[in-house]
Amino acid sequence: MAQNDLHHTCSFCKRNIKITNQYDLPIFDPQTGFAICKNCIKEIYQLISDNEEESAKVVRQKFINDLDAVLDKNKPHIIKNYLDEYIVNQDHAKKILSVAVYNHYKRMKCMDNGDNVEIEKSNVIMLGPSGCGKTALLSHLAKLLDIPFAVTDASSLTEAGFVGADVEVAVRNLYYAADKNIEKTEHGIIYLDEFDKIARKSGENNSITADPGHEGVQQALLKMLEGSVVEFTARGQRKHPEAPTTKVDTTNILFIVGGAFVGIDKLIEKRLKKDDSAIGFGAQVQNKNKEPKYDELIRKVTPEDLMKFGIIPEIIGRLPIICTLETLDENALLRILTEPKNAPVKQYEKLMSVDNVELDFTEEALRAVARKAIARKTGARSLKGILEDAMLDLMYELPKSKLHRKVVINADCIEKNEQPKIEILPDSSVEEKDNFAG
Ligand SMILES: Nc1ncnc2c1ncn2[C@@H]1O[C@H](COP(=O)(O)OP(=O)(O)OP(=O)(O)O)[C@@H](O)[C@H]1O
Ligand SMILES: [Mg+2]
Ligand SMILES: [Zn+2]
Repeated sequence: MAQNDLHHTCSFCKRNIKITNQYDLPIFDPQTGFAICKNCIKEIYQLISDNEEESAKVVRQKFINDLDAVLDKNKPHIIKNYLDEYIVNQDHAKKILSVAVYNHYKRMKCMDNGDNVEIEKSNVIMLGPSGCGKTALLSHLAKLLDIPFAVTDASSLTEAGFVGADVEVAVRNLYYAADKNIEKTEHGIIYLDEFDKIARKSGENNSITADPGHEGVQQALLKMLEGSVVEFTARGQRKHPEAPTTKVDTTNILFIVGGAFVGIDKLIEKRLKKDDSAIGFGAQVQNKNKEPKYDELIRKVTPEDLMKFGIIPEIIGRLPIICTLETLDENALLRILTEPKNAPVKQYEKLMSVDNVELDFTEEALRAVARKAIARKTGARSLKGILEDAMLDLMYELPKSKLHRKVVINADCIEKNEQPKIEILPDSSVEEKDNFAG
């Protein structure tokens, strides 16, 4: 037949190709006659693949070579010291995270040595009340690390098919944090924040309401936790069958998840009561009514409680390290206001100094701020807002003048919304001070 006799010359290798179907000459431009044959394409493909493999090897080797330096720089106590600069208290959580990160690096090194001992991944689950520093801890940790680290809000994830982001987004975020380097992505750390929000709604703690695929989200996350190849499209690209995808193996990615797990203390209390009455011991827990009970209960959290809360057991099994954070008391909040590198009080002092104002908070004022925050039950989260309320008028009025002034914020300013007294200092004192200092 005429069709079988169709021939065309490959523009590249110049061979005359007999065309039996479209794959014999996959590239063909009918207008110019430019064509590339199957053989050439195969060869080019092989060349490109070899090259990519080779450069991946080079990247990997460099990464492994750098690992010793990375290990040196990321010893647990060094990580913790860094976190101490920003986060008050939560020593236990800081230690757990520091060790988890350091072990993650060590694991990479051991794997590369081809040791027979396989070090298992130790994913972490963090529980603690709202505003106690979970998200803050992890975001500071992210800044320190030498490996890609990405935070994804689990509450935004939905099962494929529901409105919202698919779980692959977590890996995609890591991929972008790794500057689109797959090798690095596969050794990174993913933090899933607000993890409690994907609890099954039929968990004992929740009333049965619409469940936008939370169980499905957990199943999908489970696959990621177990280690699987996750496929995702580029950012901003809609998912459709022809969209180019990136594949990342999650086997060696460390997962840290965290959330407030509101109400889990009640589940723990219930369990403890049951245990107690079953064994016949007195009610240990009730006796300590004076203490903030929440912290005591949460420290006793078990996988069973998490299950009751609505997390599927397979996921809990993949999160072997349970880490609880403490409620911040008045003293802790006071320190948060003044001590961290980015403490709100330091920030306001700096801001006001630009307008030639010396700002002072009395300790009583700061305690009043802390007490207000405690009353709002949102931990350290509301400190900023309370201060902002007290400072707004000042920040509006003070820049009207250039005079050297001193403002003292006392407890009444916080508790009764009184305006602080503005004292005008002799203009020379700034220069004098500078002179003396110099
Ligand atoms: N221990 C802490 N030390 C210093 N600052 C803290 C601490 N805890 C909280 N903060 C401050 O309070 C703000 C809120 O804390 P964060 O977002 O970490 O709370 P969270 O534990 O994640 O709460 P939620 O469960 O509601 O998400 C942070 O921006 C941080 O500045
Ligand atoms: Mg948070
Ligand atoms: Zn050819």
